[in-house]
Amino acid sequence: MPVRKAPVASIIEQGGHCVLAPLKLGIAGLGHVGCGLIELIERQARLRLPGEVQVTGVSARSRSRNRPVEIGNYEWFDDAGELAASENIDAFIELMGGSDGPAKIAVEAALEAGKPVVTANKALIAEHGQALADLAERKGVDLLFEAAVAGGVPVVRALRDSLCGVEVSRVSGILNGTCNFLTTEMLASGRSYDEVLAQAQSLGYAEADPTLDVSGMDAAHKVAILSAMAFSADLDFSKVELEGVDGVTLLDLRLADRLGYRIKLIAEGVAANGGVVCRVAPMALEFGHPLAQVNGSLNTVRIEGEPLGAVTLTGPGAGPGPTASAVMGDIAKLFNPGVRSAFGGAKHHLSRKFVGARKSEQAAFFLHVRLSDRSGALAGVSEALAEANVSIDKLLQDSADAENVSPVAIVTHPCARSGIDDAVARLSQLDAVVDATRVIRIEAN
Ligand code: HSE
Repeated sequence: MPVRKAPVASIIEQGGHCVLAPLKLGIAGLGHVGCGLIELIERQARLRLPGEVQVTGVSARSRSRNRPVEIGNYEWFDDAGELAASENIDAFIELMGGSDGPAKIAVEAALEAGKPVVTANKALIAEHGQALADLAERKGVDLLFEAAVAGGVPVVRALRDSLCGVEVSRVSGILNGTCNFLTTEMLASGRSYDEVLAQAQSLGYAEADPTLDVSGMDAAHKVAILSAMAFSADLDFSKVELEGVDGVTLLDLRLADRLGYRIKLIAEGVAANGGVVCRVAPMALEFGHPLAQVNGSLNTVRIEGEPLGAVTLTGPGAGPGPTASAVMGDIAKLFNPGVRSAFGGAKHHLSRKFVGARKSEQAAFFLHVRLSDRSGALAGVSEALAEANVSIDKLLQDSADAENVSPVAIVTHPCARSGIDDAVARLSQLDAVVDATRVIRIEAN
């Protein structure tokens, strides 16, 4: 039997009024987001929380590191797990990151000790969320993770609570601010991938290990969480397919732009193949596509379903301020604990499974072929496509560079993914084709 979640804040009398007793927090992880949260807590009088929150204990990898906030007044814990189970806290706030290791141990310790948990850790929730949600439910405490998906965009509880009356068919969007910043800024400024990535890191958008962003892993964690909620599915992260922006070049972006497309990292979960198909990949969007003009570090999530139609939420998806504000929203929720499970659906709804990508995927594709500039080279390309039954919709060839390599951009008519795989295999056999051919699916409007 699910237990009704226990209130964590008691009512006290103050100046003739009944008010909620301060909520005592233990915060583990004092990086960009942890410090952003402490700054926000310091100016809580200007926010709209239902009661007062107090930081009583903190934990991080290094006590002495230079930080923009003063932590000397809080009890220090070398071990986040000890903080999580401390009698001096009402709730545990996990901002360490990492799917396993100290973050998981500490969150389990807090839940076992009957403390509600607020976390921004998408890797932890994507990979162990189901088990942690079960534990939280058994203990009758909240496990909240609004900040784990799309930073400051309030999509998790919107999906879990407000949209529970919608039969969702698709959840999609731009879920990694670093990647969106990369593809936007490279094209706008003509700067290299490395320069723009360094800027994203200095702005606090990127993960401590930015390969998690550029490989598509971070967006995959987020879309897996949203899909589990949207489809009441048993979250199985191993089934999520991902491809990042780490291979996308400035030339890819420029060629696509000249043909009328923006390349962006898109994440999606759809009800298909008898289950839930979840994937992340760079996709080419026509300028008129609803997501094509979502630029910089903005995130956007589009939820489609009946009888709603579609709803789109857009906002800052990365950075310490927006993420800390989402954590704060969850902390405020602890004054009024809910009875819903962490992922929303009741246990008996968990019938759907995550399955592999759509076998019969039909789409148009953007190809960037790198071609030695000599007679007959382009004819070889069109012949390879024809042999694979792939028909060309648009084609653009630029003059050769100093190495005599000419970029050729092709937009195909819709075809099966297997046809494109066949065409690319044929192209790779041609002497005139140098480098691997870039293949990017075109997302229909
Ligand atoms: N690194 C993430 C992003 C932010 O760039 O969107 C935290 O999820």
